[in-house]
Amino acid sequence: MFPIHDIRKDFPILHREVNGKPLVYFDNAATSQTPQQVIDVIVDYYSNHNANIHRGVHTLSQEATDLYEQARQKIQNHFNAKHSHEIILTSGTTHGINLVANGFSELLTEGYEVIVSALEHHSNIVPWQMLCERTGAQLKVLPMLEDGTLDMVAYNKLLSERTKLVFVNHISNALGTINPIETIIAKAHEVGAAILVDGAQACPHLVPDVQALDVDFYVASAHKMCGPTGVGMLYGKESWLKQLPPYQGGGEMISEVTFEKTTYADLPHKFEAGTPNICGGIAFGAALDYMNAIGFENIAAYENELLNYGTEQLLQIDGLKIYGTSQQKTSVISFNLEGIHPYDIGTILDKMGIAVRTGHHCAQPIMDFYNIPGTVRASFAFYNTKAEIDALVEGVKKAKMMLS
Ligand code: ALA
Repeated sequence: MFPIHDIRKDFPILHREVNGKPLVYFDNAATSQTPQQVIDVIVDYYSNHNANIHRGVHTLSQEATDLYEQARQKIQNHFNAKHSHEIILTSGTTHGINLVANGFSELLTEGYEVIVSALEHHSNIVPWQMLCERTGAQLKVLPMLEDGTLDMVAYNKLLSERTKLVFVNHISNALGTINPIETIIAKAHEVGAAILVDGAQACPHLVPDVQALDVDFYVASAHKMCGPTGVGMLYGKESWLKQLPPYQGGGEMISEVTFEKTTYADLPHKFEAGTPNICGGIAFGAALDYMNAIGFENIAAYENELLNYGTEQLLQIDGLKIYGTSQQKTSVISFNLEGIHPYDIGTILDKMGIAVRTGHHCAQPIMDFYNIPGTVRASFAFYNTKAEIDALVEGVKKAKMMLS
């Protein structure tokens, strides 16, 4: 039995009211909530260990450095990276993607192609468009199908010896589709292309094994998985990280600096210029500890129950359409009510204390595909309940009555 009552006690924010109603937080795909165990680590860091890292011989600096590097090792273990220096701590998924895109500026030229999937968040589209503008490489789009899955037949046709890079998310933020990344990675490698997987939406629900996947780059954000905002990770295979140039210049990423020439630090520091989000990195490690203690298999099974229940209940409402109906789906329900703008539904739900995201979800090409301005997106986490889903269903019914 999933210990939902105990789990909910860990999240102080779940006990507040919004607009006089108990908060129902269904915007987990935008950011997850933070358990007391992680909040305590943040408070402890600033209360007892705050100092800059890798720089001081004094005790506080060494304590902070140890905590930060321990967090890197936790991340390494969690994702099963071969080396801890293959884990670059970033400010989040977007930072990781831009770091890689910038690195490839020197490796791409006209005549090469890169493939991006139609299901991407803007953060996994725009950096590659910018890269193509700089290098003359051509951006090809791996199309999607009506059910929100990727067109794998088209993928086979797009791949060629000209393909140098492929970018795909592990799970779509807007629809919840779980993409067949094992096949996508293997096929990219068959033509000699490198592949980056955006795992921002997957990591809250499952544990990617980067070695088993044989993925070249994998990126994620702590705040989607019970950690703080402003910190994330880029996994890169050692061979790629050695090959790519630094993204930013500054302190920490150098070996020696003279006005004539600078040499760069070894991995991972080559990609970590400036003072990082030290507390955030440590709290990221604590968030992984927290989620691993519950167990990702337990989390996935419980969230799947919520998904099935929510889908069933919402589909009882006349005129409600769900976008993204893949069999392989995580706990995201994107929907619209016929003739009603998603923003209006979201505003009414907020008055009832129910937080959902409305709009294009930073995935405008998906909305264009369905020819809609946006959707209402309810994204469930392991600390949500069926009773909260009942509140959402009642809220949507009321909104329908008020807006029809
Ligand atoms: N990428 C986040 C979302 O899907 C912000 O809401």
